Amino acid sequence: MAMILNGKEVSARIKDELRDEVKAMKARGIEPGLAVILVGDDPASAVYVRNKKLACEYIRINSFEYILPKETSEAELIELIQKLNNDSSVSGILCQLPLPEHISEEAVINAIDPKKDVDAFHPVNVGKIMTGNYDFVPCTPAGVMELIKESGIDVAGKECVVVGRSNIVGKPMAMLLLHQHGTVTICHSRTKELAEKTRCADILIAAVGIPEFIKGDMIKPGAVVIDVGINRIAPKKLVGDVEFDTAEKLAAAITPVPGGVGPMTIAMLMKNTLKAAELNKTC
Ligand code: GUN
Repeated sequence: MAMILNGKEVSARIKDELRDEVKAMKARGIEPGLAVILVGDDPASAVYVRNKKLACEYIRINSFEYILPKETSEAELIELIQKLNNDSSVSGILCQLPLPEHISEEAVINAIDPKKDVDAFHPVNVGKIMTGNYDFVPCTPAGVMELIKESGIDVAGKECVVVGRSNIVGKPMAMLLLHQHGTVTICHSRTKELAEKTRCADILIAAVGIPEFIKGDMIKPGAVVIDVGINRIAPKKLVGDVEFDTAEKLAAAITPVPGGVGPMTIAMLMKNTLKAAELNKTC
């Protein structure tokens, strides 16, 4: 039976530490604030945005929420971002993805001031992640690294296999593992003999967005298995990208869904917002 990497517990601990940090920042005259923009009415995105607001309230920082109709134009959205870029009470800006089809995600991401880009999606920040000299760590990969640390496993020299190559998770995840001296393989939908590759992984990260895609027989006994997927398969049933029941019999450590990577992502967003407040401080 695997050790369960409880992201809910770890993230609660981190948020408590951040709450203390906020107190100290306020005493130094720094007032962190996070602006979150949601365009449209995607129900999953609405839940994520609500959880981000609750986390801001918990660590006692300001949150500014912009819920815009799905007809909002790209120009209107970029105008709002420019206003937030110039607003000194806003330390960090996050525009929830995906955006409606008529809006270019690239144009929107490029409009965010890199110093307020708490997602680390702007090309300036993506470049910094490549070189290893970064201000913001993308939230989900950062949360995964914290959970790996929690498993007690040192990444250095380990075979790390990332399944998924998105800009949000797969690619930055691979970079963070590499910076910790892991030997990293990125797999994706066109990878041949996928199971052969995943069975080599000491650390396996599943970020494909396909419910229960990674089965137990694709896992090396004793591996650390991190499941980034959050897939709703019924109104009240969420599953990850890993088939938990078969995987946990073989893994040394595994994240549950829900309660694994998800809460960690939000804790890391809070951490980045405090970092942004420091970067943007005027005194
Ligand atoms: N949609 C899914 N994950 C994310 C994320 O980490 N940031 C933003 N902005 N949108 C998302």
